[in-house]
Parts: sequence; C-alpha cells; structure tokens
Amino acid sequence: MSAFTNLQKERRSIYALGKHVTQDDDSLFETIKDTIKETPSPFNSQSVQAVVLTGAAHEKLWDITLDALRAVVKDDEAFAQTKQKVDHAFKAGYGTVLYYTDQKIVDGLKEAFPSYAANFDSWAEESIGIALYAVWLRLREEGLGASLQHYNPLIDEAVRAAFDLPESWVLRGEMPFGSIEAPAADKDFLPDETRFRHFN
Ligand SMILES: Cc1cc2nc3c(=O)[nH]c(=O)nc-3n(C[C@H](O)[C@H](O)[C@H](O)COP(=O)(O)O)c2cc1C
Repeated sequence: MSAFTNLQKERRSIYALGKHVTQDDDSLFETIKDTIKETPSPFNSQSVQAVVLTGAAHEKLWDITLDALRAVVKDDEAFAQTKQKVDHAFKAGYGTVLYYTDQKIVDGLKEAFPSYAANFDSWAEESIGIALYAVWLRLREEGLGASLQHYNPLIDEAVRAAFDLPESWVLRGEMPFGSIEAPAADKDFLPDETRFRHFN
C-alpha cells in the first residue's frame, strides 16, 4: 500500500481529542497554511481563507458555539447532551481550523467570467472540500486527529466579531483537532460495484 493510501486510511473523524500535542502553535499554523496554499482553485482564485485557533481562542470559539446553542436548544436535557459533546469532542482538542469562502473573490469571478458564473458557488464549495481534506490528511501525518463540524451559520456573526474577520468571509466549516485519545470505530463501505465502473 502506498504511503498516501495508508495516510488516507488513517485519517478518520476523531471525536476523542486531547491537548497532548508536541508541535508548537507557530509550526502548526505554518503547516496548515502551507497545506492550504498548495491546493488548487478555479482560475487560481484562492477563495478559501482559514483561521487557526489555539489556546484561549480555541476555547472561545467553543464557548461562543455553546452560547449560540443554548439560545436555540430550549430543552435542558437536550442542551446538557449537546454541551457534553461540544466539551468532550471539540473543546477538549488542542485547536480548531475555521474554513471560510471569501465571497468577494467568488463574486469577482462571476463578473470577470460571466459564461462560468453559474459554476462559481459550487466550485467554491469544492475548493473548501479540497482544502479541508488536505489539512485533515496533513494533520494526521503529524499524528493528530480531527473532525469536521458545521455550527455555521448559527455562530457566524459572533465568531466574526470575536476575531474581527472580514464581512466578505463566509464560514463553511469548523475542524477541531488535537491528540488522538481513542481511535475511530470501523466504518462501512458501500459495495464497490455500486459506486465504481471501469471501461477499457
Ligand atoms: C462535507 C462533509 C460534511 C461533514 N459534516 C460533519 C458534521 O457536521 N459533523 C460531524 O460530526 N461530521 C461531519 N462529517 C464527517 C463524516 O460524518 C465522516 O467523514 C464520515 O462519517 C466518514 O467517517 P470518517 O471521517 O471517519 O472516514 C462531514 C464530512 C464531510 C465530508
């Protein structure tokens, strides 16, 4: 098996995250930044923006998320369960990567290339997926686990205000990461015959 295939298999959604991370914050930031910089984007538009939160900023993100959830989850028992998940699976990690689309860049593409205008929103989503998958793999290569969360749009404005982020940035996903405290369970695969075809 190739090293890449092995890495792909090792990348899983890890919900038992911890803070036992040996890399320093600056090198983690550089690693994540360099990984995203090398990902492709339509017309090399680089609409994916990222914010790396560690330390108090990471804690703040998940406190903001809990506050936002408290406002919409009225049932105390349901909220207690949600809080348990946020505290143990996300906040317990070492950091979080926030993935943004810069809508100003996407709108600029629509204007510059009107014949492709209908494609740019979905291509921006593809770019987000490519970037976050690359980071997910790269973190795993560093021995770290991660998962992908979507508390956007519920938390968008509070997060924008907390970290003073541009108005044109639209939050597309949150990736808590940290040490792997427990492995993911086995996962099922659909039969290959239903998904893949080969003609020659
Ligand atoms: C586009 C996308 C959205 C996802 N959204 C969430 C999410 O909001 N919350 C979550 O816990 N996992 C989310 N996941 C993770 C999937 O549930 C997970 O990747 C899938 O079950 C396969 O497990 P694995 O990541 O361990 O291989 C998402 C994955 C993708 C690719």
